[in-house]
Amino acid sequence: MTQKGPDTTMTLAPPFTTGRGCAVEIQNLSFAYHSTSPVLENLSVRIEPGECFGILGPSGAGKSTLLLHLNGLLQGTAGTIHIDDTAINTDTLPLIRKKVGLVFQNPEDQLFHPTVEEDVAFGPRNMGLSRAEAAARVRQALAAMKLEGFEQKSAHHLSFGEKKRVALATVLSMEPEVVAFDEPFSNLDPAMVYQLMGIIRELPATIVLVSQSILPALACCQRVGILAGGSLRRVGTPQEIARDRNLLTECGLDFRYYCDICREIGCLAP
Ligand SMILES: Nc1ncnc2c1ncn2[C@@H]1O[C@H](COP(=O)(O)OP(=O)(O)OP(=O)(O)O)[C@@H](O)[C@H]1O
Ligand SMILES: [Mg+2]
Repeated sequence: MTQKGPDTTMTLAPPFTTGRGCAVEIQNLSFAYHSTSPVLENLSVRIEPGECFGILGPSGAGKSTLLLHLNGLLQGTAGTIHIDDTAINTDTLPLIRKKVGLVFQNPEDQLFHPTVEEDVAFGPRNMGLSRAEAAARVRQALAAMKLEGFEQKSAHHLSFGEKKRVALATVLSMEPEVVAFDEPFSNLDPAMVYQLMGIIRELPATIVLVSQSILPALACCQRVGILAGGSLRRVGTPQEIARDRNLLTECGLDFRYYCDICREIGCLAP
C-alpha cells in the first residue's frame, strides 16, 4: 500500500475575508520592563477582522512582549489597544480575555491541570459551557492537533512538541475571536508545522502570529510586519517583505540560506 504523502499544493495564504473575528488596533504603544530601556516604542498597527497578521523580528525584539499586551497581561506605559471598539484596560479585562486567546511561547506556562483533557476543557468550562459542550470542544481541539488518545495523560510527561500541541488545543477549544500565537511552529516536526499552517489559515478568527519560523509565517499570513528597534519597521504582504533583502539582512532575518541548502542537497533546481 502506498502511503499518502502530505498535500504539497499549499500556496501563500489567500486574501483575508473581513467579518470573522475582531479588529485589533494598536496605537502608539510603548512599554519598558522596570527601569530598562523601552522594548516597544510608539508602535502602531491596525489588523483587520479575519486577517492573519505575522510579526517577525530578531530574538529579543519584543515579539512576546507585544503579544502579552493583547489580552492585558502587560499594560503599556503609553498608547492604547482596542479589540473592535473595546479599549483594553482593567475594567474590560474579563471581556477581552473571552475574545482574545493567547498561546504562550512556552507551553509549560499554559498547562497546569493533572490531565490533558482537563487542561483543554478548562477554558470552555470557565466560559460557562456545559460538560457535554466542553467535551465536544475538547474532542475537536485534540483531533485538530492530532492528540487523540492523549486525554488522560499528564502534560508534564509529554515531549516539548506534544506539550506545544496541547497548549495550542487549550486555546482552540475556546474558539476565541482573536488568537495570538507566540512561536506556534517551534519544536514541531515538519509534518505538524505543515498541518498547523493549514489549521491557522482556516481558523475563523483574527490571527496575530509572532514567529522566528519565517517561511511558515510568510505562507500563513496575509500581511507581515518586521519588529525591530521597538516598532514595526515595515508592514507589507509576504511577497513585499520577502523581497526586502536589505531589511531582512539588517534585522538578522535573511532566510535565503534555506534555499541554498535545498539546492545543495538537490531538492531544488540550481
Ligand atoms: N520579564 C522581563 N523582565 C525584564 N526584561 C524582560 C522580561 N521579559 C523580556 N524582557 C526583555 O525584553 C526584551 C524583549 O523580550 P521578548 O521576550 O519580548 O523578545 P522576543 O522578540 O519575543 O524574543 P524571542 O524571539 O527570543 O522569543 C528582551 O531584551 C528581554 O530580555
Ligand atoms: Mg518571544
